[in-house]
Amino acid sequence: MVSNAIVTGGCGFIGSNLLLDLVRRGFTCSSIDSMIPEYGANLKNIESMIHNSSINFNISDIRDSSSLQWLLKDAQLIFNLAGQTSHMDSMKDPFTDLDINARAQLSILEVCRKVNPRIRIIFASTRQIYGRPHYLPVDEAHLLRPVDVNGINKLAGENYHLLYSEVYGIPSTVLRLTNTYGPRMRIRDSRQTFLGIWIRNLLLGKPFEVWGGSQLRDYTYVDDCISAMQLAATSEQAIGQIYNLGGCGEPVTLLQTAETLVSAARSLDIPIASKPFILRDYPSEHKKIDIGDYYADYRKISHELGWKPEVSLFEGLTRTLSFYSSQIEHYL
Ligand SMILES: NC(=O)c1ccc[n+]([C@@H]2O[C@H](COP(=O)([O-])OP(=O)(O)OC[C@H]3O[C@@H](n4cnc5c(N)ncnc54)[C@H](O)[C@@H]3O)[C@@H](O)[C@H]2O)c1
Repeated sequence: MVSNAIVTGGCGFIGSNLLLDLVRRGFTCSSIDSMIPEYGANLKNIESMIHNSSINFNISDIRDSSSLQWLLKDAQLIFNLAGQTSHMDSMKDPFTDLDINARAQLSILEVCRKVNPRIRIIFASTRQIYGRPHYLPVDEAHLLRPVDVNGINKLAGENYHLLYSEVYGIPSTVLRLTNTYGPRMRIRDSRQTFLGIWIRNLLLGKPFEVWGGSQLRDYTYVDDCISAMQLAATSEQAIGQIYNLGGCGEPVTLLQTAETLVSAARSLDIPIASKPFILRDYPSEHKKIDIGDYYADYRKISHELGWKPEVSLFEGLTRTLSFYSSQIEHYL
């Protein structure tokens, strides 16, 4: 039985929620996170675990392969989540994105090959690698044509995992995440997702901007994302496989997403601006790397691993707003 897990990116949004879940399940865990201020890490995310003797928090960078040799050698399982997540940042600073999302992923795999080849790996990839959908819903067989540097580097990252699984037998699974949201996401700015800045403005009583409005999206609540990771980690069948994650319920437009967020705030009696959001045209610099409509076909993971998202957008946004409304100062 696996009991010793590593989460790269453990102080970030999904990583910290995953660590909380692993600790609840009785795992001994380590986190590797560089705590780069522009990314999603936040000490508040891990506050409740910092004195827990079953977790080690390593402030370390996955680009440093010498430290990886020590950190990875005894683990049985890696949830490999560390990454540069901003699409715009990847266009402004493509080499940093390359180093973290591609080169460092290869380093992790090389270290595993040399010091711990039986380690099980779950890699967090992204729907961004599909680019602009040619059909909807998008399944795993869809053409891969990323529209930004981040998508290209994440695609390289997942291919390295699949290659090392195939050639060296390092058992890896790739999950292609769609928009994931929930407590502990970065809301300081829109680097992680537009939902972050929407939530921030809403809770500060300021209107948020909805760009375009008609684009279709699907959203996974973070607990559902984590249950997919846990299912993949315990399935032999998942080794060497790629799975899309998707949203609970029907895909929604950005405008419907904004309206659902406002309804969630009203259900919690959160005071909000009289006109909570403004519709505007898509800014031209963002338009060039926009993917248009997207929602995933996640039947493969449903059939093979029995996963399905359970938390509706309204319920997930209500839980998320409730989390931030009592402690927003730690996330500004
Ligand atoms: N949140 C989403 O909607 C979403 C969608 C698709 C894919 N993903 C993928 O899921 C993973 C986790 O995303 P998240 O939303 O939790 O983002 P996040 O930014 O909150 O978490 C990523 C973590 O990685 C850490 N990190 C970045 N570079 C590092 C480095 N060089 N060394 C060590 N740590 C480093 C950051 O400090 C951060 O804590 C990412 O790989 C991302 O590409 C997320």
